[in-house]
Amino acid sequence: MTVPLPADSRSLYRHGMTPDINHDESARINVLASLNAAVAATLSKGVKLAYEHEVLPKLTAEDLNLSHPKAQTGAMIRDAIRPSPVYQSWASLRRMIQEMNRQTSRHIAIRQMSDLQERAIALTEDSNDCTLVLNPSLKVPRYLANADNHLQPGGYHTEIEPGDMTAAATYDVATFVTAMGMFGPKGDSAGRGMAQWLAEHHPNFKPKRILDIGAAHGNNTLPLAAAFPEAEVVALDAGAPMLRYGQARALSMGVSNVRFVHGAAEEIDKSLGTFDLIQSTMVFHETSGTALPQILKRIYAALNPGGLTTHLEQPNFTPVTPVFDRFLRNWDSWYNNEPFWVQLHGMDFKTELHAAGFDPDKCIESGVNPNLEPGQYPSWAGRISRHDHEHAKPEAVQQGYNGETWYLFGAWK
Ligand SMILES: C[S@@+](CC[C@H](N)C(=O)[O-])C[C@H]1O[C@@H](n2cnc3c(N)ncnc32)[C@H](O)[C@@H]1O
Repeated sequence: MTVPLPADSRSLYRHGMTPDINHDESARINVLASLNAAVAATLSKGVKLAYEHEVLPKLTAEDLNLSHPKAQTGAMIRDAIRPSPVYQSWASLRRMIQEMNRQTSRHIAIRQMSDLQERAIALTEDSNDCTLVLNPSLKVPRYLANADNHLQPGGYHTEIEPGDMTAAATYDVATFVTAMGMFGPKGDSAGRGMAQWLAEHHPNFKPKRILDIGAAHGNNTLPLAAAFPEAEVVALDAGAPMLRYGQARALSMGVSNVRFVHGAAEEIDKSLGTFDLIQSTMVFHETSGTALPQILKRIYAALNPGGLTTHLEQPNFTPVTPVFDRFLRNWDSWYNNEPFWVQLHGMDFKTELHAAGFDPDKCIESGVNPNLEPGQYPSWAGRISRHDHEHAKPEAVQQGYNGETWYLFGAWK
């Protein structure tokens, strides 16, 4: 079996804040990314076989009935497949790769904590562009403060000392291994894909004010800022370290139209003004059952008439999502510190958007192909998915595309 190889991490784009990564650290990152790809290409198929041959014959139709809560979430399979050696190897390798990746990245960031701050000062002190607005009294939402999401030590908000931005440097380095390079050389393939989707589907839509919720260090915000250079873009996040790093990173990349604002999405108010486009990438699965409806209501209130809200996530379950797929997609909730995913996967976004005020007839869903900046990676670098269910949604497949596709949900106001 041929295992597609991720790109070499040394071929990633270096912006003005990219941490210095030494020879041994690069080697470790490359080994982890390749191991992740190998586990996805080989052992994940063994997990499916173990399910079909060892688990399924022992389950009854009643066990798999979707009215049963443990069938709905896939927990039924999680418990039944545990004794399988193939499953144990797959699961422990996935967990180990993630732990080593996040801790390696954290170490890389912390050993150059002061240097990063000095670089940020040099990049920002004489600039009036890309302003930074921090709120020292912001209460970080409990769901971010109480869990180290996807095993990143300290999450997005922890500050070791005043001015610290190591959480962002950690995230910036670590996403390469997790996504096996599929976030692209600038970690912005989702944002580039989103800009491309807007250009293809709504070429006349020219938002003047854009809000990116949970923007982190702006990796997926900047492609929208580039697509709409006349627009004023607000990158909102609850993690101050992400925004400090994001501001300096954006300036080092020559961006001038993004304002980095510290705040919680469930508290968006008039002080930010109103917007024509409000979007997010990979954010809702890290919130909560209480926060999600509140955030959608705030979005509705902050959106101008005729405005659009779009959100990129994994698709949620439908009534025909097989129990085995439910187990795989909820695996991260149980073993990768993504605690809200079990609940989110069972929600219907259209119902949630309607409850927030949106007209059900104006709700949209679609697929967005990541845009990997053609030609930026070595030609041998393959396109990789972690499991079959992450392959492109059929309606979003473009010719030759064989990677992951983002699920887009949203609405016009
Ligand atoms: C998985 S990261 C995604 C970051 C970025 N959008 C990307 O595409 O890489 C989630 C981000 O959302 C932020 N976040 C989560 N809930 C939030 C909330 N209620 N208000 C503001 N930011 C939030 C986190 O701090 C984190 O930076």
